[in-house]
Amino acid sequence: MIGVVGLNYWGPNLARNFAELGALSWLCDLDEARLEKAKARHPSATATTSFAEVLASEVEGVVIATPVPTHYELARQALEAGKHVLVEKPPAMKAAEIDELVALAADRDLVLMPGHLLLYHPGVRKLKQLIDDGELGEVLCVYGNRQNLGIVRTNENALWSLGVHDLSVILQLLDEDPELATAQGSSSIHPGVEDVVFCFLRFPSGKIAHMHLSWLDPHKMRKMTVVGRDKMAVFDDMELERKVTVYDKSPWKRAETYGEWQTRSGDIYIPKISTAEPLRLECTRFLELVAGDGDRIKVAQDGARVVRALEMLTDSLG
Ligand SMILES: NC(=O)c1ccc[n+]([C@@H]2O[C@H](COP(=O)([O-])OP(=O)(O)OC[C@H]3O[C@@H](n4cnc5c(N)ncnc54)[C@H](O)[C@@H]3O)[C@@H](O)[C@H]2O)c1
Repeated sequence: MIGVVGLNYWGPNLARNFAELGALSWLCDLDEARLEKAKARHPSATATTSFAEVLASEVEGVVIATPVPTHYELARQALEAGKHVLVEKPPAMKAAEIDELVALAADRDLVLMPGHLLLYHPGVRKLKQLIDDGELGEVLCVYGNRQNLGIVRTNENALWSLGVHDLSVILQLLDEDPELATAQGSSSIHPGVEDVVFCFLRFPSGKIAHMHLSWLDPHKMRKMTVVGRDKMAVFDDMELERKVTVYDKSPWKRAETYGEWQTRSGDIYIPKISTAEPLRLECTRFLELVAGDGDRIKVAQDGARVVRALEMLTDSLG
């Protein structure tokens, strides 16, 4: 059974999913009013304002949906109490902190799963499948666009608020640690809070990636583009029916032109993508990992890779 901690904006979505999966048994928030509201929705769950009480309970797993600066400490306490942990993104703010959590989880054979929602999106799974099946040929570059007008935040910059999603996807698609990760941005509204950030990453294999993150933009974009040597693919989360588009386009060397490069444009096709709720798939995955199905260590290490790259980008932005 599962306890959900932090029940303001995002936590109730997690509580709903675990309840629907028949696994919700505890609810926890420091705020009595939020706790009451959640308890009214899930009357069979035990409600408490004490995190320690959840840790002392029979729950197997703890789901942490509290503010980012609290993630590391709460996750550490939960692992030390012998609980499996699903912690919202990013699971820690420093590479040293996530390394400690990964080691603790491995040592105790516990799940440490970061809540990188997009990794469970069927559209992103499709991109990964296209890459892994070799359909796109050698991947040359990947870039993400996450732009909109608003919400203007004061507590987190665009890299931390928007970029963590795309970073988790890029690192999962390429399955490599970047050797270089730099970011540049500007703070036009609140001093010290970057509202526009451009990131560049280079990987040991030679692949490169880019992220454009902004809440000061005329376009609402949630897009990830993968350019392969044989084909190109785009995941567009703003599209309802065309979540993924595959372009049979590539550079092409025709024998009769004596090695001169040309471009080749073939069919464009739209694979069918499941409409399953990514959060339901994420919660299901957590329960499977808790039950012993899947590679716990890889899931934790993938989360650490995101925090490491985030630290490199944050340092260069500063
Ligand atoms: N995956 C996604 O798409 C997605 C979307 C939104 C938010 N999030 C993540 O979810 C987390 C929560 O986001 P939010 O917007 O709901 O945050 P929030 O700040 O609005 O709410 C956090 C809640 O946690 C409670 N809390 C804080 N410390 C606590 C403690 N020690 N014990 C018990 N309760 C405690 C607070 O009282 C509050 O109700 C963040 O990490 C955020 O990054 C993820």
